[in-house]
Amino acid sequence: MYLFSTPDLNKPSPIILGIESSCDETAAAVISGRKILSDEIASSADIQSLYGGVVPEIASRAHTDAISAVVSRAVKNAGINFENIDAVAVTYGAGLLGALLVGVSFAKAFSYALGKPLVAVNHIRGHMAAAYLVEPTLRPPFVTLLASGGHTAILYAKTESEFEILGSTLDDAAGEAFDKVARVLGLKYPGGPNIERCAKDGTANVPMPKMLKGGGGFDFSYSGLKTAVINYCHTKEQKGEEYSKADVAASFQAAALDVLVEKTIAAAKAKGVTTVTAGGGVAANTYLREHLSAACKANGFSLVLPEKRYCTDNAAMIASEGLVQYRLGNFAGLELNAKASIPLSKSLVIGR
Ligand code: KG4
Ligand code: ZN
Repeated sequence: MYLFSTPDLNKPSPIILGIESSCDETAAAVISGRKILSDEIASSADIQSLYGGVVPEIASRAHTDAISAVVSRAVKNAGINFENIDAVAVTYGAGLLGALLVGVSFAKAFSYALGKPLVAVNHIRGHMAAAYLVEPTLRPPFVTLLASGGHTAILYAKTESEFEILGSTLDDAAGEAFDKVARVLGLKYPGGPNIERCAKDGTANVPMPKMLKGGGGFDFSYSGLKTAVINYCHTKEQKGEEYSKADVAASFQAAALDVLVEKTIAAAKAKGVTTVTAGGGVAANTYLREHLSAACKANGFSLVLPEKRYCTDNAAMIASEGLVQYRLGNFAGLELNAKASIPLSKSLVIGR
């Protein structure tokens, strides 16, 4: 542990600088308490889309080029000076190792130079903490739908730092299924938003497999759905028959997302909570947002749904989880290393 100024854990609105570099977005944000003061993102998605997905080496190089300017902009646009920062929070995992290392190394050097504490943030916990930025009065218990490219799960937030898994995917994550189906349909990376765009012109009239509706507890599975779409397209192509990509996209989207809405509502009822939150890139999907909002309304739950830009990767959510850890006095040392994978079960309790 290196020396840093003793943080006041009870300070009303600590200023946290968040840094995120786990995939293809280099992001930095500053929050004061749960208020966002600035939020900067530089993305290498345009270059990555030329290769049909994220090329780790390109992502790492893009982070290295961008990080210094992105952090400077975040601090400047927040209207603060470096000395005002109370802690530096950084994503240490999960994600692409080389990409994570850029953020972690930068954050370590920055916190050391400032003499301010370093907070290690689990990316998934960041997605879950995005909800606190929308609704500063949000307090557990609540049920969270987490749907990203790496994880899909329904969680029960017992406290700000302790979660319980109520259900999760038995195979692929929802975002992963969107990305794979997009590739089959010849849509560009990133798959999720492109499927959503394509689905707008279609009708959900292509038969899709049952998504464990009403069964399987709160768990779900995407591999059968993904295979069904692949088989449907390949069979049509082999027979030389025309098919509507828009209809396939709309049918897949509805099947993939209806199950999440249904199971989230069932989980919230089972837990007896009054509030539901959502996070992760898939929560940026308009179909999911509309259906989850309608279902929460119909069942009397209040829904805390971050704006789309705070569902996909960003640094404000990292700062938000950084604040939770700051309050617990859970600081990292300079030995902090990046981690490519962190099992969901390990992400649920972070103690002092
Ligand atoms: O949370 P995120 O930005 O990164 C991870 O932590 O994984 O999620 C990325 C995932 C990708 O699989 C992407 O295709 C999906 O979220 N995604 C979407 C949408 N926007 C992003 N999926 C469906 N509809 C969207 N609009
Ligand atoms: Zn993410």
